[in-house]
Amino acid sequence: MHRFKYRARSLYCEDVKVARIAREVGTPLYIYSKNTLLDHYRKIRDALREASPLICFSVKSNSNLAVLKTLVNAGAGLDIVSGGELYRAKLVKVDPRKIVYAGVGKKRDEIMDAIRYGILFFNIESHEELALINRCAREMKRKVNIAIRINPDVQVSTHGYITTGMGGTKFGVDFKTAKAIFRSSWKYRNAKIRGVHIHIGSQILDARPFQSAIKKVLRFLETNKIFVEYLNIGGGLGIVYSLEKPQTALSFAKKILPLVRKSKLKLILEPGRFISGNSGIMVTKVLFRKKTGQKNFIIVDSGMNDFIRPSLYEAYHTVRPVTKSRGRLKKTRYDIVGPICESGDFLAKGRALPALKQGDLLAIMGAGAYGYTMSSNYNSRPRASEVMVDRKKFLVVKKRETYKDLVKGELFRG
Ligand code: LLP
Repeated sequence: MHRFKYRARSLYCEDVKVARIAREVGTPLYIYSKNTLLDHYRKIRDALREASPLICFSVKSNSNLAVLKTLVNAGAGLDIVSGGELYRAKLVKVDPRKIVYAGVGKKRDEIMDAIRYGILFFNIESHEELALINRCAREMKRKVNIAIRINPDVQVSTHGYITTGMGGTKFGVDFKTAKAIFRSSWKYRNAKIRGVHIHIGSQILDARPFQSAIKKVLRFLETNKIFVEYLNIGGGLGIVYSLEKPQTALSFAKKILPLVRKSKLKLILEPGRFISGNSGIMVTKVLFRKKTGQKNFIIVDSGMNDFIRPSLYEAYHTVRPVTKSRGRLKKTRYDIVGPICESGDFLAKGRALPALKQGDLLAIMGAGAYGYTMSSNYNSRPRASEVMVDRKKFLVVKKRETYKDLVKGELFRG
């Protein structure tokens, strides 16, 4: 359960009025609830307690340092995919033995940096990557741990852009290649294969695809007499955006634990959205209203550069007024669109909302995951600020960008 609730007519984040934060910090604005983050982290950790899992929060879902620090202080590890994410991990001083590093295209410098920091392991996605990591480790006179990311080829019903565990995607290696890698592992003296990794997709609402992927992987290990220590089942647990009925942490655990118990492998998870998704909202202000043909448009001060999920995946995010109008008012259907020069620039379409006027504030719910991290400067728009609320207090945890920030590093002659 998240902590963005109405008290009387006003939307609150924990004990702070959202309208007050917007007034003091301006819009567009991301607001995170610290205690929702912690609550969601503890839910998944506690549900799987029996397996003492290592929960590595997926940094790509929300990489704000305050968010990472909150989770790291509570005991979380981090799932990273780049040198930049490693840099963030170092800044929040996460124990390197709690870092797993995934991604299909790691570069030499990034690999060396991670080896130097002493991460738990690399999730490798190709034979050539393993060879490169081994070479780097040899040059550095170090030994590193590896997990092979296997693409278990399971059907997942989610948006095509966020399925990763089906054959034909770029992720992981198929069973045949995994077998070949294991068979040739003696060649890699500085990179020891100690685990298997799967991540089958994102926003998965039911445990079945996880179960079948885990079963496939365990069967593969057993038939080929491959012995490893770790089973990393990735992230992907779905959340409620509107009417979804996702598995709870407990029902997920109930389905997964028997398999893990039997395998005797150490369990690792990489949840992102499950922890951060409903821990954040984006707040935007109504600039103008206009009617074109049959449509009522609300033009707001944030666009696809600030929050791209609706444009990219046609993702549905609930839109709520930050301050509800008095009484029962007639609702109007609105398309809520941004200021960007693209027809794909919308936050919501055909939403029934009480009449809106200039200056009203709207909350885009469930924006804590893949919100700010996927934002850009398109149309030369400075990125929004981020705020974290902890009970009665709030703190700006990322300043709004300035025009100066926009052109940082750019040069011209003459
Ligand atoms: N582990 C790996 C290897 C991943 O690639 C991902 C996400 C995660 C963990 C975390 O997945 P989660 O628990 O958050 O579902 N931008 C898309 C989602 C892309 C997910 C990419 N990988 C969206 O906004 O829906």
